[in-house]
Amino acid sequence: MKIQQNTPLAPHTTFGVPATADELVKVTSIEEVQETAAYLKEKNKQLLILGGGSNILFTKDPEGLVLLNRIDGIEVLGEDKNGYTVRVGAGVIWHDLVEHAIENEWAGIENLALIPGNVGASPMQNIGAYGVEIESVFHQLEAVHLPTGEVHTFDAKDCQFGYRESVFKRKLKGQYCITHVTYRFTKQPTFNTRYGAIEQELERMKVRELSIRAIADAVITIRRSKLPDPKEIGNAGSFFKNPIVEEEVVNQLAEKHPLIPSYAAGEGMRKLAAGWLIDQAGWKGFTRNNHGVHKKQALVLVNYGGAKGSEIYQLSQEILEDVREKFGVTLEREVNIL
Ligand code: FAD
Ligand code: EPU
Repeated sequence: MKIQQNTPLAPHTTFGVPATADELVKVTSIEEVQETAAYLKEKNKQLLILGGGSNILFTKDPEGLVLLNRIDGIEVLGEDKNGYTVRVGAGVIWHDLVEHAIENEWAGIENLALIPGNVGASPMQNIGAYGVEIESVFHQLEAVHLPTGEVHTFDAKDCQFGYRESVFKRKLKGQYCITHVTYRFTKQPTFNTRYGAIEQELERMKVRELSIRAIADAVITIRRSKLPDPKEIGNAGSFFKNPIVEEEVVNQLAEKHPLIPSYAAGEGMRKLAAGWLIDQAGWKGFTRNNHGVHKKQALVLVNYGGAKGSEIYQLSQEILEDVREKFGVTLEREVNIL
């Protein structure tokens, strides 16, 4: 186990705000995670796991050890008439898996093209986009239980998936390092084109015959037109979740704001668009020093270069309070704050 001292973390995150790891270790196998777990226990140290760092904001230096999960490998465990069971290392880049799946005609994750980050984090918040969540192709995951070093297996029910939620963000927070995720991809795709602008984009692309490639390409084009590329502008995607509220709340808001967008979210509940609320509250494009709210997507807070995590957090607090005052709706952060 090779420990690096005093390592800058900005290059390991998409927000790119400054932070330093006292100690940092890169792991490439289950055994190395177990070795790290034993070290933490012996030294009584805390752990922070990083994948691609695309859903985290550092407001201070992390305590203890930072683990970069770089476990590789895409392995087909089985094939039957319906599809493939595929086990993937937590360190595989998510979009590389999407491209690999498309090349091999494994259907199920084409709508999730271009989401940044690694496979190991995909179950953490049940990543979702364009009408699909990882839950729909998830089979199981393996994770090292950090207090004991044991490998435990979780099926979909154990993970307690929800909208941008899993048990690993709640009851089991900080307890496990996910090492592998196993997915079930299908041979007969169910093309999911209803969401957002996919249909218009397919038309614009003059696609005559639907394919998982065409859907992924449409999603990639839409995402590139809306979201800032972290290589150019620091960000972590949507900063807040879309709030799920009772139908009654939406009805009341609609009296004053007839165009308010909302979506079905289970019996008697609706999902509001946090981006719309923040936009209507006047924050879109807001800039202070070297950070602000993206000019094309009000749900994305950005670091134009040199901002501190604490400044971005402070801005998110001001937005949260303003939206609460103007609409009576309390936003919840999606990005993990440290
Ligand atoms: P990190 O940011 O490294 O980690 C996120 C959290 O998971 C941290 O708490 C970390 O400790 C924990 N973690 C990471 N790996 C492991 C592991 N192996 N075991 C245990 N814990 C772990 N998300 C969506 O759902 N949908 C989108 O459409 C979407 N669009 C985005 C667009 C942009 C431009 C950006 C920058 C982000 C977007 N995101 C989106 C958010 C982000 O891409 C996802 O949350 C992604 O899954 C994070 O992966 P990561 O490897 O970067 O995780
Ligand atoms: N809107 C505005 N102004 C804005 C932004 C959005 O009025 O500045 C309105 C749009 O016009 C639309 C609604 O809000 O009516 C929803 O906007 P959009 O379709 O862009 O999606 P979103 O709700 O902002 C969500 C996810 C994204 C995901 C897309 C596509 C959350 C928190 N965000 O964004 O996920 O890629 O849908 O499925 O659920 C992420 O999690 O990081 C992320 C980027």
